[in-house]
Amino acid sequence: MDHFIYKDGKLHAEDVDLTEIARAVGTPFYVYSAATLTRHYKLFTEALSPLPHQVCFAIKSLSNIAVLKLLGDLGAGMDVVSGGEYRRALAAGVPGDRIVFSGVGKTREEMRLALTHGIRQFNVESEPELLALSEVASAMGATAPITLRVNPDVDAKTHEKIATGKSENKFGIPIAKARAVYALAATLPGIKVVGVDVHIGSQLTDLAPFEAAFQKVAELTLQLREDGHEITRLDLGGGLGIPYTRSNEAPPLPTDYGAMVKRTLGHLNCEIEIEPGRLISGNSGLLVSEVIYVKEGEGRTFLIVDAAMNDLVRPSMYGAHHDIVPVIESTADRQDYDVVGPVCETGDTFAKGRALARLEPGDLIAFRSAGAYGAVMASEYNTRPLIPEVLVMGDQFAVIRQRPSFEEILNRDSIPSWL
Ligand code: LLP
Repeated sequence: MDHFIYKDGKLHAEDVDLTEIARAVGTPFYVYSAATLTRHYKLFTEALSPLPHQVCFAIKSLSNIAVLKLLGDLGAGMDVVSGGEYRRALAAGVPGDRIVFSGVGKTREEMRLALTHGIRQFNVESEPELLALSEVASAMGATAPITLRVNPDVDAKTHEKIATGKSENKFGIPIAKARAVYALAATLPGIKVVGVDVHIGSQLTDLAPFEAAFQKVAELTLQLREDGHEITRLDLGGGLGIPYTRSNEAPPLPTDYGAMVKRTLGHLNCEIEIEPGRLISGNSGLLVSEVIYVKEGEGRTFLIVDAAMNDLVRPSMYGAHHDIVPVIESTADRQDYDVVGPVCETGDTFAKGRALARLEPGDLIAFRSAGAYGAVMASEYNTRPLIPEVLVMGDQFAVIRQRPSFEEILNRDSIPSWL
């Protein structure tokens, strides 16, 4: 469920008319609903209760500081994968002890940053990383709380570019090797083992792969305890999928996920940590764009819009589907369109042969489910400025990221004196 609905024939974000935002900020832009973000976060906390738990929002899916503040104020922790994301979490007022640091390539500098300002735990992904962290932490006279991210060799049955739990993927420590690496961790200065971490992929639409992975984590936890480690926390990663179309069979709900977590891990007396991104942010955002031209091609009609692959790369990168709806509700005949952007690549295509009520230049359309991996993956390819982000709460809206001016963009480059 989201809070983007038609009222008086116009698509609204909560109580705000999207045509009003378009007039104020210009197109294209991203718009997020505070009510939807809040609702989705709470679905997880409710699903995991009464187990002790912490939901750490995966910032990589939507990292605007205003959104992080909204979720942080509700009690969310944050899952970060870079020093930049760590700084965003701090800037949003989230305390270090609610921030977990994931990722296969943490640098020493990033480790120092997190140890200086506070960290809930590092999810360590390899032996060399573990040794580096021990070195950095002991040199600072600090102790780094860690989990090891284990790779359970489970097929997440999702798009190959976002599956992470198979042995051929770069992520985590093979589960068969985990006991040996935990034994090493226990001997290292500056390291304190607190738990186990697993994340098998993104946009999972079936609970079975999660369950298979969590069962392996449960077995490992018992073995590790026998080996003398104090395992008090299980980080289960993110990955629960969302419905991208209204017609599709809906993926499992957070309540189903929560029940499965309780069934497989509830007996272990651990604090459960999860790192959802997409389920919280995905259906909380739209990308709004204006039709520039309607171009008749050979046997097809191109709808050329002012958003492009640099603004929302998911369709060209993963062949992802985003529902497209008109901002002004229409009863006009439907027609098949190839919906494309102005970037000079054939891959700059949002949809092929998509049936939409007839549109004219100047009409506004909205791409649904664009809150996750939308703005965060945008670039300035073709020197198209990053587009604004807008947050709506009730009947209020605010620009939470400005569109940069061309002057700002051009001033980032410099011409050497010798040229
Ligand atoms: N935790 C870790 C360690 C992750 O690598 C990820 C996502 C998450 C949590 C959050 O997963 P989520 O709940 O959002 O599925 N750009 C791609 C998705 C990449 C996901 C990367 N890792 C897309 O647009 O589909």
